[in-house]
Amino acid sequence: MADLNRIARTLVSDRRGILAADESIATMSSRLEKVGVEPTAESRRVYRELIVTTPQLADSISGVILADETFHQKLSNGRTFPDYLGDIGILAGIKVDTGAKPLAGAPNETITEGLDGLRERVADYVRLGATFAKWRAVITIGDNTPSDRAVHANLHALARYAGLCQEGGLVPIVEPEVLMDGTHSLARCQQVSTAVLRSLFEELDLMQVKLDGIVLKPNMVVAGTGSAEHPTVAEVAAATVEALRATVPASVPGIAFLSGGQRPEVATQHLGAMQHLDPLPWELTYSFGRALVGPALETWRGDEKNRAAAQKVLSELAVANAAAR
Ligand code: 13P
Repeated sequence: MADLNRIARTLVSDRRGILAADESIATMSSRLEKVGVEPTAESRRVYRELIVTTPQLADSISGVILADETFHQKLSNGRTFPDYLGDIGILAGIKVDTGAKPLAGAPNETITEGLDGLRERVADYVRLGATFAKWRAVITIGDNTPSDRAVHANLHALARYAGLCQEGGLVPIVEPEVLMDGTHSLARCQQVSTAVLRSLFEELDLMQVKLDGIVLKPNMVVAGTGSAEHPTVAEVAAATVEALRATVPASVPGIAFLSGGQRPEVATQHLGAMQHLDPLPWELTYSFGRALVGPALETWRGDEKNRAAAQKVLSELAVANAAAR
């Protein structure tokens, strides 16, 4: 059985963080189209190859989360993506949820699916080189949301996923994302995030998930994108750490934030400000998608001539986040 605690600690230690390159085929295709690239299995492969072959990536990135399609693809040198990542000292992760679908009886809310057949899929991914996994639950803030049933259904599924991963030898990244969409205040985001994290740890306890063998991937506590409030970096850092301190047991080795649509430099500033709020019982790091790879994709635009420049942009953001730690 893999040493889950050792893998979890490797993911969050040494000032490194996790790169989320696990966009679904639909999401990745629409992001490619936005920069003028025809979305095909091959263009998605080429783009992901650009990301993982960025020079010195392993200095600031401990793990890369891949989508199922990429997990089975090969680089130009013939290595599979998980094997190549292993070669360069980066752990390979796999997104195992199958996406957020409308939740019955809960308008505007979703339930993340993917539990059916998960035990067998975990075994396949372990055989192919995965050491950790990801599942994202989505919680929305609105006039009548989140509803109790959406919170309960999503966190229950997240805990069942975590239990199945640990049983099969994968460290689960446990991601309850409270979305930034909406006009809510910082205080409301803190209240919802705290309630969600509290319920999450109850569900994880019920499922007997070993907390020293998970990585928590929460949202930062921010005001909604349509809010009139513009909290300072210090206010966001304080509200986020307060929510975590109130809910996350010290046995969790590390917390790796999603970026959630924040501008890359803002996400990095928030991460940096939290490090100074000592003493923290867990490592605080990053598991960014857009805040790491967004500018690289914009720079690349499908043109081989832009490849080195795109990798440079990604590298600079990864180094800036490592430095923020
Ligand atoms: P963002 O950092 O772009 O929010 O993505 C992180 C992620 O993995 C979402 O599931």
